[in-house]
Amino acid sequence: MKRIRLKSYDILIMDNIIKKLIVDLKSNNWGRKFAIITDSKVKKLYGIELQEILNKAGIESIIIPFVSGEKNKNFHTVERILDQLFKEDFHKDDAIIALGGGITGDIAGFTASIYMRGIPYIQIPTTLLSIVDSSVGGKTGVNTQWGKNLIGTFYNPKRVYIQPKFLNTLPKKQIKNAVAEIIKYGVIAKPSLLKTLKKNRKEILNLNKKILLKIIFSCIKIKAGFVTIDEKEHGIRKHLNYGHTIGHALEKISGFSIQHGQGVSIGMSIINTISVSRKMMTKKDADYIKNLLKSYSLPTKLLPSVSAIRLISAIKLDKKMHNDKKQFIIPTKLGKIKIIDSITNRDIIKACKKHA
Ligand SMILES: NC(=O)c1ccc[n+]([C@@H]2O[C@H](COP(=O)([O-])OP(=O)(O)OC[C@H]3O[C@@H](n4cnc5c(N)ncnc54)[C@H](O)[C@@H]3O)[C@@H](O)[C@H]2O)c1
Ligand SMILES: [Zn+2]
Repeated sequence: MKRIRLKSYDILIMDNIIKKLIVDLKSNNWGRKFAIITDSKVKKLYGIELQEILNKAGIESIIIPFVSGEKNKNFHTVERILDQLFKEDFHKDDAIIALGGGITGDIAGFTASIYMRGIPYIQIPTTLLSIVDSSVGGKTGVNTQWGKNLIGTFYNPKRVYIQPKFLNTLPKKQIKNAVAEIIKYGVIAKPSLLKTLKKNRKEILNLNKKILLKIIFSCIKIKAGFVTIDEKEHGIRKHLNYGHTIGHALEKISGFSIQHGQGVSIGMSIINTISVSRKMMTKKDADYIKNLLKSYSLPTKLLPSVSAIRLISAIKLDKKMHNDKKQFIIPTKLGKIKIIDSITNRDIIKACKKHA
C-alpha cells in the first residue's frame, strides 16, 4: 500500500481497497450509514457489489445513482440526490461514498458539502483522470448554463481510496482523456512524465501496472504539492488550470460532446500556439506537446463549427478572467509556466486560425 498524506486527509493506493475500506468505516467515526453516489455505468460495474459487501459486513448503505455524462453534472442531479438523502433519513452523522469518475466525485463532493451544511464523504475514483487529478485537492462543483464548474465548493474528503484494478474495465478513450491531464502535469511541473508517456504509449494504453502506478504516484504528488501551498487557488494552484479555460469553453459550446480530457487537449494546444507567437516558447517544445497529444489520439484542432468569436464569448465568464483582461497559464518551456494577464482577443483569434 502507498499512502500520500495531504494536510487534512490521506490518499491510499492499494490492491484490495474494499477490505481496507471496511476496516476504516468500522474504526472511524465518519458515518453511521453511507450513501454510495455513483453513475449508472459504475453502479452496474462496481456499485451494487460494493453495497452488498458493505451490508454483509454490517455497514448500512444505500445506492443513489445518476445517469452518467457531463450533461448531468448539474443542480438538477444534485437536487435529486439531496431529496433521496432526506427520504432515506440521512443526518449529520451519516456520510457519502463517491464511487466513479471525476463527474461523480464533483457531484458527490458538492452534495456532501451542502447537505445539512456538510456531511463527511469518501472518494473512490474509478477513472484514470479522477485518480490522477480530480480526487486530489477537494474541488467540487456542477455546471450551469453560465459555464463549467462555475458553482462549487472546496470540500475535502475524509480519505481517498485508489485501486488501479478498477481501470481494467475503463474504455481506452477514457485512458486517453486522462493522458491529457498527465501531459498537463508534465508541462507545468515534470517534463520527465512526457518522456514516460512518449516511450511507453503501448504499455500505458494496455494498463501496464508498474508504469501506471509510477505515473499515478507522480501526478498525485505534483497536485498535492500545489494544493498544499495554495488550497483555495489564489496563486500557484492556478498553474493546474493550464489548457482549462479554453477547454471548459469548448466542452460547453459542444454541448459536452467534447469530453474534459479532449477539451483540455485542444486548450493546451491553442495556448501553446499563443506562447510561440509571443516568442515565449519555442515551436519545437509546442510541437513536442502537440505530437504527444496526437499520439494518444487527443484532438488539437477546433471543431469546424466553433469560431474564435464563439470561443471568446464562451470564455468570458470563466473564473480565470479579471477586469476584462484574460488571464492564462502560459508555458514558457517544458516544465515552466507563467501566469499572464494580458492575452487579448486578437491573440486568441490568431491562434484559433492555426487550429481550424
Ligand atoms: N474536482 C477536480 O479537481 C477536477 C479535476 C479534473 C477534472 N474534474 C472533472 O472531472 C470530470 C471528468 O472526469 P472523468 O473523465 O473521470 O469523467 P466521468 O466521471 O464521466 O467518467 C468517464 C466515463 O467512464 C465511466 N467509468 C468510470 N469508471 C469506470 C470504470 N472503472 N470502468 C468503466 N467505465 C467507467 C463513466 O461511467 C463515464 O461514462 C469533468 O467534469 C471535470 O470537470 C474535476
Ligand atoms: Zn482537468
